[in-house]
Amino acid sequence: MGFQSKIVPEEILQVKEVTVDFSGFKALNELNFSIERGELRVVIGPNGAGKTTLLDAVTGKVKPTAGRIVFQPNERPACDLAHYQEAEIARLGIGRKFQTPNVFKSLTVLDNLRLSLKYPRGVLHTLMAPFLQDGKDLLAEILDTIGLGPKAYREAGILSHGEKQWLELGMLLAQDPELLLIDEPVAGMTPRESERTGDLLLAMARKHTLLVIDHDMTFVRQIASKVTVLHEGRLLSQGTVREVQDNPKVMEVYLGHHKIEKKTPAAPTPAAASPKGHAIQKPIGHHA
Ligand SMILES: Nc1ncnc2c1ncn2[C@@H]1O[C@H](COP(=O)(O)OP(=O)(O)OP(=O)(O)O)[C@@H](O)[C@H]1O
Ligand SMILES: [Mg+2]
Repeated sequence: MGFQSKIVPEEILQVKEVTVDFSGFKALNELNFSIERGELRVVIGPNGAGKTTLLDAVTGKVKPTAGRIVFQPNERPACDLAHYQEAEIARLGIGRKFQTPNVFKSLTVLDNLRLSLKYPRGVLHTLMAPFLQDGKDLLAEILDTIGLGPKAYREAGILSHGEKQWLELGMLLAQDPELLLIDEPVAGMTPRESERTGDLLLAMARKHTLLVIDHDMTFVRQIASKVTVLHEGRLLSQGTVREVQDNPKVMEVYLGHHKIEKKTPAAPTPAAASPKGHAIQKPIGHHA
């Protein structure tokens, strides 16, 4: 980071010519992709485009067959992720949230957050963490951000689906990663929950770099300033929501999977969307 990052946009992640080959099938195919520090980037693409595989490759769940993934390329030394195991990559500062909530149901909301807290020192410090002022302040801040303060002492198991997702986003914040990878955060949510999630991600983006995968274009319009479209393991298009929606290649790819909806001016349209623009709907059969 440092002084330079405030003037010149600095890349936090570089994916260079990455191929992930599953027995002859290329889920990622010489993919080039990068994100700058402080961005909230949304990645979209039809079913099977390689979006989740991209996250798997960045987090070390799968190893690329070819190409390089570099974390914090401007740091010395830069981290070529090929040399790190999954747990080490998490410790380097790359956090991930899977689609389904993964919280400890019998523990309270607060204890779930407490267990996720990242501490620079060893076991003793971790045991002392609940009693230390820095941990308390951070937990209070996170509870406030995710809106679960009133339920801090309730068991996580009684939370609604949306609240569990917010708790897990809070747990991710407690780990304090540099880069957060979030796969389909609003799947299964009501429109209201989805909008709150968008607000939460925008709040998280003030302090972290976020890469969010989603299909829901209302949600994408709410949060995204820059969108990357993947198709068949490659980068198909990149730009503002409007630019990618109006890109004929993107329309064609999505037309193959589902229809393109014409937005009417009466529809609730966030500022980033054009009233005359095309909205990419969820692919047919996705999460059906
Ligand atoms: N472990 C694996 N072995 C074989 N094929 C795989 C494996 N993981 C993913 N694939 C295939 O790679 C392709 C890309 O999958 P991926 O899950 O990355 O797509 P996606 O863009 O996340 O799709 P979706 O929108 O459905 O979540 C798919 O065709 C999938 O079947
Ligand atoms: Mg996926």
